[in-house]
Amino acid sequence: MASTGSPSPEVPVGLPLWLLAELTYRCPLQCPYCSNPLDFARQGEELSTAQWFKVMAEAREMGAAQIGFSGGEPLVRQDLTELIGEARRLGYYTNLITSGIGLTEQKIAAFKQAGLDHIQISFQASDEQVNNLLAGSKKAFAQKLEMARAVKAHGYPMVLNFVTHRHNIDRTDRIIELCLALEADFVELATCQFYGWAQLNRAGLLPTREQLQRAERVTNDYRERLKAEGNPCKLIFVTPDYYEERPKACMNGWGSIFLTVTPDGTALPCHGARQLPIAFPNVREHSLQHIWYDSFGFNRFRGFAWMPEPCRSCDEKEKDFGGCRCQAFMLTGDASNADPVCSKSDRHGVILAARAEAEHATQSITDLAFRNERNSHLIAKS
Ligand code: FES
Repeated sequence: MASTGSPSPEVPVGLPLWLLAELTYRCPLQCPYCSNPLDFARQGEELSTAQWFKVMAEAREMGAAQIGFSGGEPLVRQDLTELIGEARRLGYYTNLITSGIGLTEQKIAAFKQAGLDHIQISFQASDEQVNNLLAGSKKAFAQKLEMARAVKAHGYPMVLNFVTHRHNIDRTDRIIELCLALEADFVELATCQFYGWAQLNRAGLLPTREQLQRAERVTNDYRERLKAEGNPCKLIFVTPDYYEERPKACMNGWGSIFLTVTPDGTALPCHGARQLPIAFPNVREHSLQHIWYDSFGFNRFRGFAWMPEPCRSCDEKEKDFGGCRCQAFMLTGDASNADPVCSKSDRHGVILAARAEAEHATQSITDLAFRNERNSHLIAKS
């Protein structure tokens, strides 16, 4: 049982507005930048339909307004339509975050009927060969194209997500052209963030500064063009924080608005927290009310009292909350350190070293460690 902790008295605890339901770690693809934990293959039994119903009801009662169904690949859950229907009945705005693999016209229609509001389909690249190589599936690209069109045909806004990295970012123009050909409404060009498998493969994924700047210029040129043409497609460009001097306000602050529940019922303040040396509570044993307000894990980095220097006296701490706790842990071994992305951190050198390494990286796609059960077991053993 997790020990209890008290939030910093100076900051009132917010509401868990955003519930991320990681339904499963099962996935037919093998993306080497997946943010799932490295040892996903060893995680416990998945929550049942009834247990997810309970989680959704409790979170909704506490003020949760949006739910994201993700994974792994949420489509492998046979009860997905039921879960969507229940979420809708409870009054959630419902999002499905999927690779599109396993999606069919019938399922799209059933999800619509059940009340799904939003579907985001992720692509690996604009080229079939690169896409399929990264996904670890020969059929992935064709299936994604077909399903993207079907999603649009069923009246959903078309939201496409491309995780970009050094192997596909130079094709940003082709990615955008593909999205325009598909009549996308929103396109997220999200440069890889380094958690889970992406962190393991960081040296082979981090783009150079020049690649990044070029991609941003291309995106801005397209934005101008779309505006001039009256095309409503929105291009969202997400820079990796490895090229920033100040850290991101990760999760809008620890235990502030995000609540993630993993396939086995572990409740986390973010998708990456499982790796921290903290015993996070499980929804099988505790109510969400207890987990959110009273558990040690959710209170550990709330407020400002936990901060060491340089965060403690920093005049930007209320803006960035000291950055990402998981990144601080991965890069410094202590989650309470300042996120080394910050140039005020005395460990900022690790970020500078990663940038320098990116200038000389030679790994090809096939050198990356793919996210699959075999590799997961090997890593967990080592
Ligand atoms: Fe865990 Fe940033 S991903 S705090």
